[in-house]
Amino acid sequence: MGREARINMKALVVGASGLVGGALMRVLEQSGIEALGTFHTHAQPGLVSLDIRNRGEITPLFDQFQPTVIFNTTNLAVDYCELHPQRGRDFFLTGTSYLLAEAARRRALVVHYSTAYIFSGIDGPYGEENEAAPRNAYGKMKRDAEIMVSPSHLIIRTMNVFGWGKTSNNFAMQVWNSLHSGKAFSAATDQIGNPTLVEYLAETSLRLVQEGARGIFHVVGKEAMSRFAFAEAIARATSLDGGMILSRTTEELNQKAPRPLNVELKTDKVFRFLETEPLALSESLKRFRRQWRADTHTSHSSIIKGDKAEFLKHEILEKVREYHTLTHKLQPFVPYKSRIQYSGRVFGEEEMVNLVESGLDFWLTLGPYGDFFEKNMKD
Ligand SMILES: NC(=O)c1ccc[n+]([C@@H]2O[C@H](COP(=O)([O-])OP(=O)(O)OC[C@H]3O[C@@H](n4cnc5c(N)ncnc54)[C@H](OP(=O)(O)O)[C@@H]3O)[C@@H](O)[C@H]2O)c1
Repeated sequence: MGREARINMKALVVGASGLVGGALMRVLEQSGIEALGTFHTHAQPGLVSLDIRNRGEITPLFDQFQPTVIFNTTNLAVDYCELHPQRGRDFFLTGTSYLLAEAARRRALVVHYSTAYIFSGIDGPYGEENEAAPRNAYGKMKRDAEIMVSPSHLIIRTMNVFGWGKTSNNFAMQVWNSLHSGKAFSAATDQIGNPTLVEYLAETSLRLVQEGARGIFHVVGKEAMSRFAFAEAIARATSLDGGMILSRTTEELNQKAPRPLNVELKTDKVFRFLETEPLALSESLKRFRRQWRADTHTSHSSIIKGDKAEFLKHEILEKVREYHTLTHKLQPFVPYKSRIQYSGRVFGEEEMVNLVESGLDFWLTLGPYGDFFEKNMKD
């Protein structure tokens, strides 16, 4: 993509109501790039409806919007594809072929998302050049779709993508939802891969496009670990009880589709191309934790069930309110008697509570309230 094309990028994000598509929309917007996103069953404000199995819907959308880059982030669940292989194939192969045909008509670039599940999981870690040998129906369909995408487009393989979002069903949110509502969560100790923060994936995708990358790239987080260890890390990051995570083997989990066990992906290629290291899990978790806090900690009304630290915090903040009432609460104004405060510190109960809360969390810089403010300001 030449300089001019980069400046005039018009991005169509197919599957913008999903995890990866949603993050792409945010990153494109932050970068000032004109973008249009689509949904299929989960309507969202600003997104347009599109079923990629229906060419009659795709062509008019392309004619109208005239995208120069198409991010194909559409997806079906792994176990669903095992149970409904024909529907899965129709979706992945027909849908991808329609998008490719429309892109070819306008010489637009397709950024196609794929998965580590195209590998067997027996002889990892895997580089981009390693041979595919999928173990389940999903992996086979995704591999067949990859083959349809010519090397003049960009294929991004990723895995174990996670991000904060109460409506998302990604692995980290499954862990959080379960532990948060006091339920145990079973996680495999023998399924190894690289947890990948969705914002990192979206930011890196855009950089790859802007730098003119073509062909296949692995874009995943820096470290590989078991699902069990990752679930524990999510529990720690969100102050939940990791003791409620049950270690299970893949055999014990009895998932519908067979899982490749060690699908760690190598990231040397993207590192060489962009000259930046993949995001470390510690940094990814910091960003995840920050979003969790901005979403759940900006109101003092909720106590996280079963979390002693949160309970104590709630108690302390209630005491601060009491203290404020006793020592600082404004007395009713009495003309000619009350002092008129013409300058000095102006604060109320909320300011005092927020100050103490920041101290307890040791958020001495922008912190979750900053994120909360920015988000509301934007909305
Ligand atoms: N999440 C992961 O851990 C992971 C791992 C490896 C690879 N990937 C790859 O990353 C990409 C994105 O995955 P994701 O996790 O973001 O998926 P996701 O959250 O499940 O989102 C899938 C998107 O596809 C849309 N969609 C479903 N059926 C459609 C149809 N018939 N026509 C048009 N759109 C349709 C959905 O729309 P509605 O929701 O509105 O129906 C949704 O926006 C996929 O290519 C996937 O293979 C993801």
